[in-house]
Amino acid sequence: MSSSIKNICCIGAGYVGGPTMAMMAYKCPDLIFNVVDINELRISEWNNEDLSKLPIFEPGLQKIIAKTRNKNLFFTTQIKEMIESADIIFISVNTPTKKKGLGAGKSSDLKWVEASARQVARFAKGHTIVVEKSTLPVRTAEVIQSILNSSGSNTNKERNSFSVLSNPEFLAEGTAIKDLENPDRVLIGGEDETAMILLSQIYKAWVPESKILFTNIWSSELAKLTSNAFLAQRISSINSISAICEVTGADIREVSRAIGKDTRIGSKFLDSGPGFGGSCFKKDILNLVYLAEYFGLLHVANFWEQVIKINDWHQQRIAKIVVEKLFGTITQKKIIILGFAFKANTNDTRESAAIKICKDLIEEGAELIIHDPKVSPVQIEKELQIKPISENKNDDIFSFKNKEGNWRFSNNLNIFDNAHAVLILTEWEEYKYIDWFNAAQKMQRPAWVFDSRSIVNSELIKKSGINLWRLGDGS
Ligand code: NAD
Ligand code: UGA
Repeated sequence: MSSSIKNICCIGAGYVGGPTMAMMAYKCPDLIFNVVDINELRISEWNNEDLSKLPIFEPGLQKIIAKTRNKNLFFTTQIKEMIESADIIFISVNTPTKKKGLGAGKSSDLKWVEASARQVARFAKGHTIVVEKSTLPVRTAEVIQSILNSSGSNTNKERNSFSVLSNPEFLAEGTAIKDLENPDRVLIGGEDETAMILLSQIYKAWVPESKILFTNIWSSELAKLTSNAFLAQRISSINSISAICEVTGADIREVSRAIGKDTRIGSKFLDSGPGFGGSCFKKDILNLVYLAEYFGLLHVANFWEQVIKINDWHQQRIAKIVVEKLFGTITQKKIIILGFAFKANTNDTRESAAIKICKDLIEEGAELIIHDPKVSPVQIEKELQIKPISENKNDDIFSFKNKEGNWRFSNNLNIFDNAHAVLILTEWEEYKYIDWFNAAQKMQRPAWVFDSRSIVNSELIKKSGINLWRLGDGS
C-alpha cells in the first residue's frame, strides 16, 4: 500500500457504505475508515454496543463490525473533520428516482450526491481521490468534477485538487458480506491512472488482481446500470413465463431448471417470485430509460421500460389470483402474509412486492396479519401508509368490522386461527418448517396457501388438506 493513503472517508452510512467500509477495514487493518452521515440516529445505531441493533440486518456483518469498530472503523457525524483528513472519499449516498422537476419519475435525484460533492469541495485538503460508490447516471462524474473544480467557497487556504473515479458496488442485500469478500469483479473507471492504481491497492488486500477491471469512467457508470437492468430483465422474463405455465400445465421450476442447464443462459436469477423489489432495479432501469429517451433512442427506451411494466403487472396478478381463489371476495377474510422484506436475509423493504400486494388486498377488504422476522411494524406502516389495528384487539374474524380491510403485525407464527389463507411473499428459511398439519386444524375451510416463492413442501400441504397455489404451477 502506498504510504500516501492512510485515511479513507465514506459519505453515507447506508446499506452500501456501512458493509463496504466494514469489509475494507477488516481486510486493511493499517488503514483508517471513517463513515460519516447526516443522519444522527443511523450513526448512533451503527455505534450501538448491542450488535443486534445495527441499523441494517445482514448475515455476517455483526462479526466484522465487532472486529473493526473503534479500531480502524469509525461511524461519526463529524463530516467536516473526516473529509479534511481523507486521502480517498467514497460517495455512497442515496440516489432515488426524482419525484418532481425535469426527468421526474425516471432520472435519479442527484441532490444528495451534489451536496456531498459540495461538502468535499469545501473541506478537502491537498489532493483527494473522490470515488463514486453510489449508482449514478452516465456522465455524473463530469458533474462531480465540475462542482469540485469550482469550489469557490473553499474555506481552506491550501489549494486543493481532485481525481474523480467510478467504483460501482455490486453487492446484493442478504449476501452483502459474501459478495464483498468474494466479488465477481471490482470495477474501477477513470482517467487518472495513478488514482486508479491507488484505489485498486485497497482491494488487492483480498481480491485477486485478475478480478479488478479498469475501464473509462463512462463505461464503468453504464456497466453498473446495465448489470442491474440485465438481472431484472431475467426476473421479468421468468415471471412472464410463469403465467404461461399456469395456463398450459407446465411448471416454472422445471422450465427454469431446463433452460438454466444451457451454459449460455446459466442457472442464476431464474427463480420466479412475486416480482423484483429492492431500492435499485426499478430506479436503475428508469435511469437507463431516461438516458435512452434523452438521446432519442426510443426503441431502446421502450425495450427496457417493458421490464418494469411486466413486473408491475405480475405483482397485481398475484393479488388478483388470491381474490379469485377465495370465491371472488376477501372482505373481512383473515389472510396471513408471510414476509414483508423484498427478499430474505435483509430488513430492507424498499420497493418490496409485499407493499403493492398488501395494499391491493387491504383495498379489497382483507384483514391481514403480517409476519416478518426482521422488519418492524413501524417500517411496514411507513411503507403501507395505513395504520395497523390495535394489538389488543380480539383477532377473531367476526370482530373485524372495517369493510376496507386492515392489517396488524405478529412477531410469531401462532397466527393461523380462523385464517382463510396464507400468502408467502418472502423466502425466509423459517417458513419452510411450518407445521401445516397443525395450521390446517386451525384455519377456516377451504383453507389456502399461496406460495409465491416455491418454498413449501407441496406434498405435505396437500396431505394436510390445505389447497395450494404455487406460482407458475400449471399442474
Ligand atoms: P441508503 O439510503 O441506505 O444510504 C444512504 C445514506 O446516505 C443515508 O444514511 C443518508 O442519510 C446518507 N446521506 C445522504 N446525503 C448525505 C450527505 N450529504 N452527507 C452525509 N450523508 C448523507 O442507500 P444505499 O442502499 O446504501 O444506496 C446508496 C447507493 O448505492 C445508491 O446509489 C444505490 O443505488 C447504490 N447501491 C445500493 C445497493 C444496495 O444493495 N442497497 C447495492 C449497490 C449499489
Ligand atoms: C441487486 C443486484 O443483485 C446487485 O448486484 C446490485 O448491486 C444491487 O441490486 C443494487 O445495485 O442495489 P439486491 O436488489 O440487493 O441486489 O438483491 P437481488 O438478489 O438482486 O434481488 C432483487 C429482487 O429480485 C428481489 O426482490 C428478489 O427476491 C428478486 N429475485 C432475485 C427473484 O425474484 N428471482 C431471482 O431469481 C432473483
